[in-house]
Amino acid sequence: MQYAIKGGNRLSGEVQIGGAKNAALGILAAAIMADEDVIIDNLPDVRDINVLLEAIQDIGAEVERVNRHEVRINGKNIHSVHVNGEFIRRIRASYYLLGALLGKYRKAEVALPGGCDIGVRPIDQHLKGFRRLGAKVSVQYGMVVAETKNLTGGHIYLDVVSVGATINIMLAAAMADGNTILENAAKEPHIVDVANLLNSMGANIKGAGTDVIRIKGVKKLHGTTYSIIPDQIEAGTFMVSAAVTNGDVTLKNVIPKHLESIAAKLLEMGCTIIEEDDTIRVIGTENLQNTHVKTLPYPGFPTDMQPQITVALSLAHGTSLVTESIFENRFKYVDELAKMGAQIRVESNVAVIDGISHYMGAEVIAPDLRAGAALVLAGLAADGITIVDDIKYIQRGYEDFDEKLRGLGAQIEMINDDHDLRKFLISAV
Ligand code: UD1
Repeated sequence: MQYAIKGGNRLSGEVQIGGAKNAALGILAAAIMADEDVIIDNLPDVRDINVLLEAIQDIGAEVERVNRHEVRINGKNIHSVHVNGEFIRRIRASYYLLGALLGKYRKAEVALPGGCDIGVRPIDQHLKGFRRLGAKVSVQYGMVVAETKNLTGGHIYLDVVSVGATINIMLAAAMADGNTILENAAKEPHIVDVANLLNSMGANIKGAGTDVIRIKGVKKLHGTTYSIIPDQIEAGTFMVSAAVTNGDVTLKNVIPKHLESIAAKLLEMGCTIIEEDDTIRVIGTENLQNTHVKTLPYPGFPTDMQPQITVALSLAHGTSLVTESIFENRFKYVDELAKMGAQIRVESNVAVIDGISHYMGAEVIAPDLRAGAALVLAGLAADGITIVDDIKYIQRGYEDFDEKLRGLGAQIEMINDDHDLRKFLISAV
């Protein structure tokens, strides 16, 4: 499947931002820890989420899709702690089932996680945390097996700030005996969201959103109703869509506070940003200015926005530097962007970007989720037609991406074959 894009339209109008995928993944895993109904609202309808829902249904949890964005989960009939579906290895967040099952049943066997190929992605900090809580952990035939009779609270210091390890340890410790102190924890908004959900299920977690999280283990978690926060990265991607098309886009259902690092960079580049309660409006400029960006854990600039901001900086006057400090192999898409005329050199973990006046349409391949979205943004800004191949990556994390962009005036269609492409070319004006 591909996207065909005819670039050049200034995007304008309003777009509704969905629930945060990365929060939802932790929240769905947490939901199986109760033996009562947990109702989750503002769930994004994207592939990673649907794969995780299938996996938890497979082990016996009740999963009822109340509507496209609401699900009811009940973990009372879980009959297995062994998770190894065909698809589960492809998603990163399968590892949250380790923490959730270990916490609830003191045993978990989960296939090693996949996810985007953006560098080596070890899970040593997750495993260190489980061991610190008293679990015996081993890796056998591609499965992580964690098990203990006594899961007990402990003092854990993370050697690297890891979103996944923070959430995973929080999940297990929520139902451990005694108190856990997690130091050097990640502070991303979705960590706070998972903690809030767990607390609304009866957990006792304090300090989420700071670098020290204190968890008092409880014996049981109960049912609740919870609404997931808006997706910071989907929002950021649409903010950049306004910047690269000199557009005027208002994002609805966002938390502007979560978007500060992205807004700050767009401001430096010359865009206008207007924030209200739960909306943010981005107005582009004909004269984008260069700036420098370094990815950092929250509240720093998110690594998941690095490809998108690079696409924008490539259209700015002068030379910009983008430093990737979270993942070591996250510039693979630069070769694809070069096909569209970008002038970017990658030296180790720094991209040196010489601004160009415009992109030229080309056929490019999405190498991963966020880079795929970034290539679409380049296509929207490009002269002529761009084809983005392998959009299955993009569908892992963006709901109705093409439809939302069309709502802002973009010319973009999902196509399957040459026939679809011809139809698109005839209709594109
Ligand atoms: C999550 C997000 C991903 C985002 C990333 C950083 C999900 C499903 N994915 O991924 O979209 O890009 O946060 O914001 O929420 N590390 C270790 N050992 C570990 C764990 C991590 O060395 O045990 C390293 C990683 O290799 C990486 C850094 O720590 O260099 C941060 O990774 P982490 O925050 O764990 O990312 P994920 O949770 O995998």
